[in-house]
Amino acid sequence: MDKVRVGVLGIGRGQSMIHYAKQAGNAQLVAICDYYEEGLQNLKRELNDPSITYYLSFDDFINHPMDAVVLANYATEHAPFAMKALKKGLHVFSEVLPVQTLKEAIELIETIEETHKIYAYGENYCYMPAVREMKRLYQEGKLGSFEYGEGEYIHNCEPIWADITYGDKHHWRNRMYATFYSTHSIGPLISITQLKPVSVVGFELPYWSRAKRMGKLWGTAGIEMITLENGAIIKSVHGDLGKNSIWFSIYGSKGRIESAREDAQCGDIERVYVNLDSEEGKHDSTVATYEPKELHHECAKDFGHGGSDYYAMYHFIEKILGHDAEIIDIYQALDMFLPGLFAYRSILDGNQPKKIPNLRYKEERDLYRHDVACTDPKIAQDQLLPCYSKGNPEVSQEVYESLKMTYESKKKAHQ
Ligand SMILES: NC(=O)c1ccc[n+]([C@@H]2O[C@H](COP(=O)([O-])OP(=O)(O)OC[C@H]3O[C@@H](n4cnc5c(N)ncnc54)[C@H](O)[C@@H]3O)[C@@H](O)[C@H]2O)c1
Repeated sequence: MDKVRVGVLGIGRGQSMIHYAKQAGNAQLVAICDYYEEGLQNLKRELNDPSITYYLSFDDFINHPMDAVVLANYATEHAPFAMKALKKGLHVFSEVLPVQTLKEAIELIETIEETHKIYAYGENYCYMPAVREMKRLYQEGKLGSFEYGEGEYIHNCEPIWADITYGDKHHWRNRMYATFYSTHSIGPLISITQLKPVSVVGFELPYWSRAKRMGKLWGTAGIEMITLENGAIIKSVHGDLGKNSIWFSIYGSKGRIESAREDAQCGDIERVYVNLDSEEGKHDSTVATYEPKELHHECAKDFGHGGSDYYAMYHFIEKILGHDAEIIDIYQALDMFLPGLFAYRSILDGNQPKKIPNLRYKEERDLYRHDVACTDPKIAQDQLLPCYSKGNPEVSQEVYESLKMTYESKKKAHQ
């Protein structure tokens, strides 16, 4: 096989992977699925490529002759779709987040172990150039032993909330909890250090006016303080604070490496600042700053999120082809996700620390096989959690109606 035949579920975010599969030399786009019929028809006209088959139903889509699927459907529904695809013999690339509950996490792990198919978690922030450079330097021993790190993914989504929730009060983006969407800030630190999380304390920022205007039911932002297996601590913060920030900083026994803050004058999130001693305790560092460039930089630079959207897919496809590749497997995906899940349990329990299980071990899985606690009523049933720790806020129907009108009028303007 010299090209992997790829199908994509979901035509919102999925357009990035559609773009990859059409551009890249190692993949061929063969099928697209979305039950949003109008959008699918528009995309069909736009792509104007008779070699692609379009599906409204996922069950029909996974019968298409292909090797791999990209799951860019709702963030709370990846695991059941991943399991169906794996059982059909397909490799799976899953958008964030990997699962919604612990029960799903265990079932997904066991399906991957049984089917021996490739599962890659699409945490693209791990493939950002600054993060990859931090990983390279850390793994070469330049930072020494890892002591502390910080990750931020602050995205004030208020200006785009109508576009991404369509005024639907039940959209997953309205019904998460503050520490759910946590892997953009935690993931890169886990990927750099390859250390496992062992416990977490969670915090939630209050339900301020921005959240109310947006019609979401959860606190403004979430914070996780995570202890790693070597005793180091990482702080992760993510949510809808006033100004955007994608930023990572790591401290080790020989110094510090960090990416540029978005407000910094001399560059953007792709720049790194490296402040490292030649030996531990020597205090002889000078600060170097540069924009690292990865292999394939020219192809990647037109892709989103600092080119990371290209690399996440590139590594998945190369792995299927049996070449050297760095994917995020299900165990590491859960090292990135479970701190957020348990941080919310910590918040609900007055910020008490919570132990994070290592689901690589069967005995640890057995403790959580029936744990469906989450904020999604369809899944959680009698284990339903509130979206906000102080109880679901009341949002007037007018908020959603106004967002819906904005969404509809923008859609009309694009036609
Ligand atoms: N990694 C990133 O940087 C990044 C950025 C944006 C979104 N995302 C992720 O991408 C995913 C999709 O987000 P989105 O922004 O496109 O919004 P979304 O979740 O509203 O869109 C999902 C799309 O999938 C379709 N869909 C859902 N279930 C389906 C089903 N059963 N059958 C057929 N079609 C179905 C919907 O019609 C919709 O077009 C989410 O998981 C989100 O977390 C990731």
